[in-house]
Amino acid sequence: MKILITGAAGFIGANFVYHLLENRPDWEITALDALTYAGNLENLKSPLEAKQIKFEKVDICDEEDLARVFSSTQFDQVYHFAAESHVDRSILSPNEFVRTNVLGTQNLINNARKYEVSKFIHVSTDEVYGTLGETGRFVEETPLDPSSAYSASKAGSDMLVLAAFRTHGFNAVVTRCTNNYGPYQFPEKLIPLVISNVMEDKKLPLYGDGTNVRSWIYVRDHCEAVLRVGEKGAAGEVYNIGGPLESEVPNKEIMLKILSILGKSEDLIEYVTDRLGHDFRYAVDSSKLKNATDWEPSISLNEGLETTINWYKENTEWWQKIKSGEYMKYYEKNYGDRS
Ligand code: NAD
Ligand code: DAU
Repeated sequence: MKILITGAAGFIGANFVYHLLENRPDWEITALDALTYAGNLENLKSPLEAKQIKFEKVDICDEEDLARVFSSTQFDQVYHFAAESHVDRSILSPNEFVRTNVLGTQNLINNARKYEVSKFIHVSTDEVYGTLGETGRFVEETPLDPSSAYSASKAGSDMLVLAAFRTHGFNAVVTRCTNNYGPYQFPEKLIPLVISNVMEDKKLPLYGDGTNVRSWIYVRDHCEAVLRVGEKGAAGEVYNIGGPLESEVPNKEIMLKILSILGKSEDLIEYVTDRLGHDFRYAVDSSKLKNATDWEPSISLNEGLETTINWYKENTEWWQKIKSGEYMKYYEKNYGDRS
């Protein structure tokens, strides 16, 4: 099986590469990434050195370069992870989100159709559904109601993939997952930001009153779900992917859990101005996926957090390099004075 993974040098894409190397060792993997601020070849260091994968530095908005990749290998499947992925950045600079998430996805669809790729797996997000109140869960039929330029651009990309199925019979599936955490996550996202700040005795910025709820899934559980959708998902279908029930917690509680594991004081928490358009709560019903593929999350929140914190402890160089580079200048400039 020859497969193309887009966004492979990012957080989930890199974890997906490792997941396949362990579980589908005979697959031939081409890893594609534009290496934006979020893409990092360090994430793929060992498979690259061992020549277990091929790497292509390509922007999915560059039609010519993308066509070169598709014409050089007859891919059986495309797993599409590449995206601008951070909500806060989409509030500050939305255009890049429209470019990559909408235009880039259409370019991939065009090439996958032209070069007769057998199946296209589009990795999307539960944020396309908008926000929930205190109760309820998103199902696949929940109307799309995105709140940010990130989620609106992802909703646009989902629509383009599903439109290609309806118009051309394009064999594509869409997945919509809740909040991931685990190794290699860029330290602008809540969990790695909190872990690394605690380790540096820095303040933990908690948006609003800290009661917003997220439902967390360990990244390898997400990877296994995407793989099962790739193997068993039906064309034109959407599958929600959610974590274990106990992993649905308010943001303040996640901070307290991490502080407790690392043995630090709650005094590090600092309430800051809320995110604009901040979705209150996400939670998905993944029973459609369970019925179709027998998938269920296997890693509890406590177990996943322990593993993740240990990874950040053992890989301080990885995140310190990121936090001391361009990213910190960006962070200070945009969020330095919001308390
Ligand atoms: P990430 O930001 O860590 O990685 C995205 C990768 O895409 C980076 O390596 C980046 O360099 C690459 N990229 C960006 N623009 C590109 C372009 N124009 N051409 C080629 N490559 C480009 O994101 P992530 O958290 O790994 O998310 C991966 C996918 O999963 C995204 O599509 C995201 O919407 C989706 N998702 C993420 C989560 C989550 O909690 N992180 C949850 C559900 C769905
Ligand atoms: O639900 C899936 C989505 O989860 C993915 O599609 C996105 O790519 C991913 O970034 C994530 O979006 P969130 O906006 O939920 O994740 P983030 O880590 O940015 O924030 C999680 C929660 O924590 C959210 O309610 C905002 C809050 N927060 C975040 C940061 C960065 C804080 O309170 N302080 C912070 O410093």
